[in-house]
Amino acid sequence: MTANLPSVHELLARRAAGFSLEQPFYTSPEIYELDLQHIFYKEWLYAVPACQLAKTGSYVTLRVGAYEVIIVRGRDGEIRAFHNSCRHRGSLVCKAREGQVAKLVCPYHQWTYELDGKLIWANDMGPGFDASQYGLKPVSLRNLEGLIYICLSDTPPDFEPFAQLARPYLEVHDLTDAKVAFTSTIVEKGNWKLVWENNRECYHCSSNHPALCRSFPLDPEVAGVQADGGVSQRLQAHFDRCAAAGAPAQFVLARDGQYRLARMPLQEKALSYTMDGKAAIAKNLGRVAPPDAGTLLMFHYPSTWNHFLPDHSLTFRVVPISPTETEVTTTWLVHKDAVEGVDYDLKRLTEVWIATNDEDREIVETNQQGIFSPAYVPGPYSPGQESGVTQFVDWYAAWLERAVAPLQAAAE
Ligand code: FES
Ligand SMILES: [Fe+2]
Repeated sequence: MTANLPSVHELLARRAAGFSLEQPFYTSPEIYELDLQHIFYKEWLYAVPACQLAKTGSYVTLRVGAYEVIIVRGRDGEIRAFHNSCRHRGSLVCKAREGQVAKLVCPYHQWTYELDGKLIWANDMGPGFDASQYGLKPVSLRNLEGLIYICLSDTPPDFEPFAQLARPYLEVHDLTDAKVAFTSTIVEKGNWKLVWENNRECYHCSSNHPALCRSFPLDPEVAGVQADGGVSQRLQAHFDRCAAAGAPAQFVLARDGQYRLARMPLQEKALSYTMDGKAAIAKNLGRVAPPDAGTLLMFHYPSTWNHFLPDHSLTFRVVPISPTETEVTTTWLVHKDAVEGVDYDLKRLTEVWIATNDEDREIVETNQQGIFSPAYVPGPYSPGQESGVTQFVDWYAAWLERAVAPLQAAAE
C-alpha cells in the first residue's frame, strides 16, 4: 500500500468480525495482487470437468491472473496441464479457449510439442541443441472423480485431505460418464470476493431469483453454516435417508474452512433446478437413488462451487480477471448417452441457472458500484441469514493474514 494508507496488515488487524470488509479489499490493485500471489497462485483451483477433454488432443486454455495454462488429454488418456508459454521465445502455444490438436504447435516458429509436453521438433537450432531441455513447463493437476483441479505453485498444498473427503460424495455421481451439455461464461464487474459473498447466502434469493426459488429452499441452514457446526433434526433426517440409500450427505466443513460438502434438500416436491421442479433429464447422470436427494453442495475456495443432483450436475468456476472483474463459468453435465431433444431439452435444463447467474451478476455489480463510494463503510452480516458469508470472509482474512504476517515481520 502507498504511504498514508493503512497496510493490508493493519486493515486485517482492525477488521470487525461479522462485518463486510473495508473498501480496499474490494477495489485496491495492491490487495488484488496479494490475493493472486497468496491464494490463486498457491491453492488448488478447479479448472474443467475431465469429460470436456473427451478425445486425445482435446485441450482447453485458462488464464489465472498473469498465468496462461493449457490442459490437454494425451495419447495415453492422461490429462496434463502445462504453462501456455513456448520454450523458444515465450509465445502462447494455444490461442483458442478450446480445441483438438494432434500436436501442440507454437504459432510463431512452429516449435512442436507432443501432447505430453515434450519438444519434438524445432527447426534449425544448431548441433548443440538439446530438445529434451525445452519441454513445456508442467502445471500440477489432479483428477478428482472427473473434476480437474490445477495448482500453479511449484510446491502445491496437499490435495489428498480434500480428495479423500470428497470422493465418496462424488463417486455416486459418475462424473466420468458425463458429457458437457452446455457451458456459459460471464464476466461480473465485481471483485471476486463479492462474487463469493453473494454465493454464500440466500438472504437475497427471494427478491432476486424468481426462477431459482421454485426449487431452491430459502432455509438459511441450506446455504449457511451454523455457528456451533450443528444441523437441525430435519436436515439430519434428510442426510440419514440419503446415506441409507448409498448417497453420502452429511454436512462436513474443512477444519480451516476452505471446503464444505453437504447434500441439501430442495423445496418440497422439487427434484431438480427446473421451472416446474421436475427432473430435467430422463437419463440420470449418476447412481443417486432417491429422486428427491436434493443437491450435493460442494464449495472449495477460492475457485469453485458445485451442485450435484440426481439427474445432472453443475460446476461453477470463479476466476478473477481484475480487482473489479470476475469470470464465472458454469458447466451443465449430463449422462454421456443422454440425447438432446430426446432425453432432455437444453432450454429446460439450463434456464434456471442462466437466469440466476445473470441476476447474481447484476447484484454483484450493483454491490461493487456502491462500495466504490467514499461513504461506504463495512456493514453487519445477518447472523441468521449470512453465516456462510461470515465463514467465507473469516476464511479469506485468516488466509491472507497468514500469508502477509511473515512479510510484515520482515518489514519491521
Ligand atoms: S516462440 Fe514458439 S516457436 Fe518461437
Ligand atoms: Fe444469488
